[in-house]
Amino acid sequence: MAEGEGQQTRDRGFDLRARLDERERRGLKRSLDTAESAAPRTRFDGDERLVFASNNYLGLATDDRVQAAATEAAREVGAGAGASRLVTGDTTAHRALERELADTKGTDRALVFSSGYAANVSTLTALSPDVVFSDELNHASIIDGCRMADADTLVYDHCDPADLRRRLDRRAREADDDESWLVVTDSVFSMDGDVAPLADLCDVAAEYGTWLMVDEAHATGLYEDGGGVVQREGLGDRVDVQMGTLSKALASQGGYVAASEPLVEHLVNAARSFVFSTGLAPPAAAAAREALGIARESDRRDRLWENVARLREGLAGMGYEVRGETQILPVVVGDAADAMALDDALRERGVLAPGIRPPTVPEGTSRVRVAPMATHTAEDIEHCLAAFRAAGEEVGLL
Ligand SMILES: Cc1ncc(COP(=O)(O)O)c(C=O)c1O
Repeated sequence: MAEGEGQQTRDRGFDLRARLDERERRGLKRSLDTAESAAPRTRFDGDERLVFASNNYLGLATDDRVQAAATEAAREVGAGAGASRLVTGDTTAHRALERELADTKGTDRALVFSSGYAANVSTLTALSPDVVFSDELNHASIIDGCRMADADTLVYDHCDPADLRRRLDRRAREADDDESWLVVTDSVFSMDGDVAPLADLCDVAAEYGTWLMVDEAHATGLYEDGGGVVQREGLGDRVDVQMGTLSKALASQGGYVAASEPLVEHLVNAARSFVFSTGLAPPAAAAAREALGIARESDRRDRLWENVARLREGLAGMGYEVRGETQILPVVVGDAADAMALDDALRERGVLAPGIRPPTVPEGTSRVRVAPMATHTAEDIEHCLAAFRAAGEEVGLL
């Protein structure tokens, strides 16, 4: 009998219907809702919504100047980079943006990647630390970067420098002297809207001789001179790796690392998503540069913070528990079913603010995440507040 003959062929494929059904059963199946634009008020699959769910915090994704910068770069440089930056894809659009980012962040140099996710994964992998000390609420791209770096990952309690010190201390007693260590934290946490105690983390990191990496995804463009929390706190010279995205307040696409010359040069050579992936599209680079210029010089930031203050005050005044201290306002209702009912009731009133439940957030802390933009008008904010009042009464939360 020939080899394989007479044997029953096994199905070694993937039962994806069963996996999707399982997600559905656990209430975790997601679907796509298609928007006509990134403006604060737009249509999703035909229904108009006032959007309080976007990371386009400064409203610059639909700004004429940012759109014109992208158009001009497409015309002058090209719609795509055409190759890895190390081959022919390194363009004037990338270099101009990197100079502006380095200037904003007060570093020798900056390097852009095709997404913030790629920047985190590649930077962690290229540094290849033996041990990473990571805040328990760090973003998925940091968690994946730690896995891909094959580092021992020691998770410390959220925003707790004392717990970090305990873990560093314990490791210091057990470890070889030549181990390389990295502490990594988001600066603004995307689900809680709170801010890492960066000055204390710098002190603890310095005490143990470890490097500190800060993810400024939700802070870049919003603080001092268009920088992040690192700039607000004047810690630029104490943070070894300042990472961020171009995709949120900078209204474009891509990620960046701002750091010392040797670190950036190392990433150019060793960050796999930089080396083995096509350079960021030039229109995205030019749009982010224009947005950063506007963030640095205009009153956009003030307009965002005014909207944040009005919403926070209005929601708290109705009796909602509004956590955080930034532009991300988590309205915590506790129960998952209540959060999803509030999400639905807001949607019926034309307001889009997503309900977030476990496993994304801990049990008992389900919430609706409200994110205003600088371009929401005073009427938009009042509409949102009125919707929260009526929806909260309907669901029985107020
Ligand atoms: C804290 C944080 N880091 C990194 C990223 C990834 O950035 P990007 O969306 O540009 O890939 C995100 C995106 O949600 C984020 O919230």
